[in-house]
Amino acid sequence: MDFSTEEGGVFENLLPLDGDDREKVYIETYGCQMNFNDSEVVASVLIANGYAITSNINNADIALINTCSIRENAEIRVFGRLDVFAQIKKHKPAMLVGVIGCMAERLKDKLIEDRKVVDIVVGPDAYRELPTLLRAAEDGQKGINVLLSREETYADINPVRLDKNGVSAFVSIMRGCNNMCTYCVVPYTRGIERSRNPESIIREVKDLFDAGYREVTLLGQNVNSYNWHEPNSPTKQTTNFADLLEMVALVDPRLRVRFSTSHPKDLSDDVLYTIAMYENICNHIHLPIQSGSSRVLKLMNRKYTREDYLNRIAAVRRIIPDCSISTDLITGFCTETEIDHDQTLSLMREVGYDFAYMFKYSKRPNTKAANKFEDDVPEDVKTRRLSEIIELQGKLSEISKRKDLNKSFEVLIEGESKKSKEHFYGRTTHNKVVVFPREDHKVGDFVFVKVTNCTPATLIGNIVKE
Ligand code: 5AD
Ligand code: SF4
Repeated sequence: MDFSTEEGGVFENLLPLDGDDREKVYIETYGCQMNFNDSEVVASVLIANGYAITSNINNADIALINTCSIRENAEIRVFGRLDVFAQIKKHKPAMLVGVIGCMAERLKDKLIEDRKVVDIVVGPDAYRELPTLLRAAEDGQKGINVLLSREETYADINPVRLDKNGVSAFVSIMRGCNNMCTYCVVPYTRGIERSRNPESIIREVKDLFDAGYREVTLLGQNVNSYNWHEPNSPTKQTTNFADLLEMVALVDPRLRVRFSTSHPKDLSDDVLYTIAMYENICNHIHLPIQSGSSRVLKLMNRKYTREDYLNRIAAVRRIIPDCSISTDLITGFCTETEIDHDQTLSLMREVGYDFAYMFKYSKRPNTKAANKFEDDVPEDVKTRRLSEIIELQGKLSEISKRKDLNKSFEVLIEGESKKSKEHFYGRTTHNKVVVFPREDHKVGDFVFVKVTNCTPATLIGNIVKE
């Protein structure tokens, strides 16, 4: 998953309009794209039950914080925010505070016991219960529902789009994870893997297209293991991820399709051929490696070796020659030696990643790594290794950007550049951000942009005729 938003975010629009007498809910979201999409499901459930959404906590009757447990830092940040909520509550004693998402699932009633400010605790599979729990909390009854489900996919709930651009949207295609990577808390907080009915996915995608959206990102912890069995089908018909990707691509050629995250062990050639076949499926794959050492990968229970992974990369290069590749890396996992670390660096060079999310290993309670292995890489060594991989990735990202100089790319305009009202930003098929003078175009248009320059994070260019 893309955890670029770990610092948290608040939806800035207000739905429905402020000023009516509905109770107002403020939602702050941390963690992965899936969590942001979950907040949209939560908003939908609440609006259907008579609440309004506000972006200003000072106007809120209810403040929800959608949390992430993936690393200790993510949890520390949320505790910090709960302290701020407690300060606000001093001036507004009637405001209810709810913790939802992965920390709710992991810490359960401990959250209410430890933090007096918390009124309700709701896990990722229990969002339909939010209105009931809120009503009870209004009557002074603290509430908790952290039941995980084998079926819940919120398939029938149309998420209320809380992002601002109206151009790109996330669509969850599955929930949970069965992989049990030894370092990872997700299988415990989000439960077992379940795929969402493809019909409901296609309906949601069509609705988005009709509403003017021009890009969807299909989300799951491991999208390549998406598998839907049609219940009661005499032919036992199934839909796998390659099938689903094709169905989504066929909704309209003017709709860009992205997906995240792929597990290397499940990325099939069929999926790669589907990407190659459809112009509107973006040429970018996020393929987390985690470590370049087969020994460490085994300890992580990733179920592939360095060689297996490089074979998958070779398949990507063969089937989609013009494809960008990004990854996730964990440095300083239990027992990692300098030799293992050097293997990570050499693998990064060999693949030549366009982009990477890089993390220090963080021990998560109750995972296999926490229970069975010693977190024995000293903090200063983890820090040094992390800075070495960040430095190398900086060079690789620069090489990747320089490759684009003087080339033209189709770009979907996503919004105004943060730095200048005269400029738009959008992304290339390779998921690289480009900034360019806006001319007479508008958000949601596709334009061709010739890249003339780049900064460490962004491509810079001008609109051209194609
Ligand atoms: N410590 C550090 N990073 C982790 N990730 C998952 N669990 C941990 C952990 N315990 C990283 C992995 C994963 C990404 C979403 O977060 O790289 O791909
Ligand atoms: Fe965690 Fe591994 Fe599942 Fe990703 S694939 S969510 S790292 S258990």
